[in-house]
Amino acid sequence: MKRQSWDNPSDTSLTRVDGAAKVSGGATYSAEYAIPELVHAVLVTSTIAKGSITAIEAHEAEAAPGVLAVISHLNVMTVPGWPAKKQPAERAQVGTALRVFYDPLIYFDGQPVAMVVAGTHEQAVHAASLVCVTYRKESHQTDFEKNAGKAAVPLNVQRSGNSPFKDYERGDAAALRQAEVKIEAEYIIPTQHHQPLEPHAIIAVWEADDKLTVYDKNQGVKSVQGQLAQAFKLPRENVQVVARYVGGAFGSGIRVWPHTLAAVIAAKQVKRPVKLVLGRDQMFTSVGYRPYTVQKIGLGASADGRLTGIVHEGTGQTSMYEEHLERTVLASRALYACPSVLTRYRLLPLDVNTPTWMRGPGDATGMFALESAMDELAFALKMDPLDFRLKNYAESDPERNLPWSAKSLRECYELGAEKFGWKNRMQAPRSVRQNGMLVGYGMASSLYGFHRHPSKARAVMQADGSVVVQSATMDIGPGTGTAMTRIAAKVLGLNAKKIRFELGHSALPDAPGQNGSSTIPSVGSAVHDACEALKNRLAALAGDMEARFRSGGQAVVRNGQLFASEGDKDGLSYADILKHHHLNELEVTGESKQGAERDQYSMYSFGCHFVEVQVGELTGEVRVTRVVTCADVGTIINYKTARSQSIGGVVGGIGMALMEESVMDHRFGRYVTSDFASYHIPVHADVPPIEVYYIDKPDMLADPIGSKGLGEIAIVGVAGAIANAVFNATGKRIRHLPITPDKLI
Ligand code: MOS
Repeated sequence: MKRQSWDNPSDTSLTRVDGAAKVSGGATYSAEYAIPELVHAVLVTSTIAKGSITAIEAHEAEAAPGVLAVISHLNVMTVPGWPAKKQPAERAQVGTALRVFYDPLIYFDGQPVAMVVAGTHEQAVHAASLVCVTYRKESHQTDFEKNAGKAAVPLNVQRSGNSPFKDYERGDAAALRQAEVKIEAEYIIPTQHHQPLEPHAIIAVWEADDKLTVYDKNQGVKSVQGQLAQAFKLPRENVQVVARYVGGAFGSGIRVWPHTLAAVIAAKQVKRPVKLVLGRDQMFTSVGYRPYTVQKIGLGASADGRLTGIVHEGTGQTSMYEEHLERTVLASRALYACPSVLTRYRLLPLDVNTPTWMRGPGDATGMFALESAMDELAFALKMDPLDFRLKNYAESDPERNLPWSAKSLRECYELGAEKFGWKNRMQAPRSVRQNGMLVGYGMASSLYGFHRHPSKARAVMQADGSVVVQSATMDIGPGTGTAMTRIAAKVLGLNAKKIRFELGHSALPDAPGQNGSSTIPSVGSAVHDACEALKNRLAALAGDMEARFRSGGQAVVRNGQLFASEGDKDGLSYADILKHHHLNELEVTGESKQGAERDQYSMYSFGCHFVEVQVGELTGEVRVTRVVTCADVGTIINYKTARSQSIGGVVGGIGMALMEESVMDHRFGRYVTSDFASYHIPVHADVPPIEVYYIDKPDMLADPIGSKGLGEIAIVGVAGAIANAVFNATGKRIRHLPITPDKLI
């Protein structure tokens, strides 16, 4: 396939601009800043799931070596942005983020109840073990299945006039009952936790009483800045947030969590910079998770394979104090051409901490169910699952009745099928054996909405013609700096080595956090526009120097030089243009946001995955042996880092499908899988060769670089494709993830 836009995997793709720093220890992560006078904090967390603290015995801890303070609701400072405490304390209303050390109430097991600050980490760990907390226990409810009857329409939806999470119906969903062929099934995904290599960590530094700097692992420095400024009633500019390097975050860093505020409070109280690093076990109760979700799907089709009805109902768990809503049932409205669709979304509040977005939030969950159900119906129809999807291909958005801004899902299917060798698939399960294992093929579609937020970027050309580009965006792993460097290099006609991209600091120009696969469309567009503006400034300056640049023609850039037109042989170097005008630097700021196209077109990223599995008939062991993943995300900015992102998504999908499950002991409301010995994620031996293909057709209605999001679409659909391959191999349909051996033997 001919690449139509920017990149060619073999030559022009950039290697990660910060790769060498990362692998050689030169990259400084949040917990690694050398701050004078630094002291260390460790959280003490609750051992009950519901009730209240009756006493905290801290004398022994306070007397332990090196201890500066033991902070709890008994002696915590007043956080100025929080409402006055009630005596006696009242349980939080739904919609209230957990306020750390605010009152004696306990909402979930693992809730922070105290914080020990000491000279060294070891001293803090030891002293934390000496803090004795007593509780008045109340009976808790953490078991989804036992409490399923309490699921309800989210309050958020009840109160809002126009929520995407409202019940939705088009056509006549009751027609499903008359469908010539139909299936109905229930699908369950367990709670799953983000497991970035770098745990959440923060160093909080107060200067005087009203200036705060935090080095904090997160996904949006500007958003953290805003939330901390609000909590401590400070002008925004008095709070600076630094997160130049992030060691992975899959949604866990989008919000400000209680531990962050705890560290900032502690630093203020002990008047020293405080460092807090969550233990791996604390990662299970401190920063959210993909919620346990039960879905029911009914699908109907005519005998020749046309979808006639889709009913998709989903219920996710949430905490007692907050509603976490996600797109669980939404893909069913838009992915296939189907006249009758009904979706319903419910929440079940339990005595747990609040869930949050985790890569492909809602969509990865919902598409596991929808794409499993599509496979089940294709089997009932005796149709090839890919043919079935092609037969129900949506040529326009059936939900919004709008044309797609661009959609090359058909090309994805065709390319993926060809590369994978889908035509060799046997329709009947248990048809193929190899090395004593059953072999199966499965596929699934993937879609993810397009998100573009207002963003700014500054481009500053130096006297030598090199350029620094800045934006308060983030890199949680995909290689933002590399992609932005490539955009700047392309627009300015500069060697990438002459460009430095700076991110991860709240003092930089305004940008959204890295979430919702929005960074390239949002910040990439701002970088594009800033560099275009810089180019135009250079052309205007060149016009002062030479008449040929005043002809009003479009100046052309190449190799750090400006040419009056395409055919122009002699260029003016950027350095000479600045020198001629006695400029030490030339600075422009670009600002970019979505135009009216958003209302005229429906915008999505699309993709599909093809998977081969081998299943041990006696052992129930599932091995993913081959994956072809194909995406239509508009322009591929930088093939090498894009490919890594797609591979990472598939690895996440393998974990979701086969391993990841946070198991709770409901007697205590406590996770028992809170380490890597029991919470399994894929290791290298679990990951087969993964082939990645892109359609690489710019979507110029989406943004000026024609590029849509890739981060989430990389995982959405993977679990469904694996489950479908397991069915093809074994004839067993596993509807409850993860697909562990016990479910297959
Ligand atoms: Mo993503 S779940 O928006 O980090």
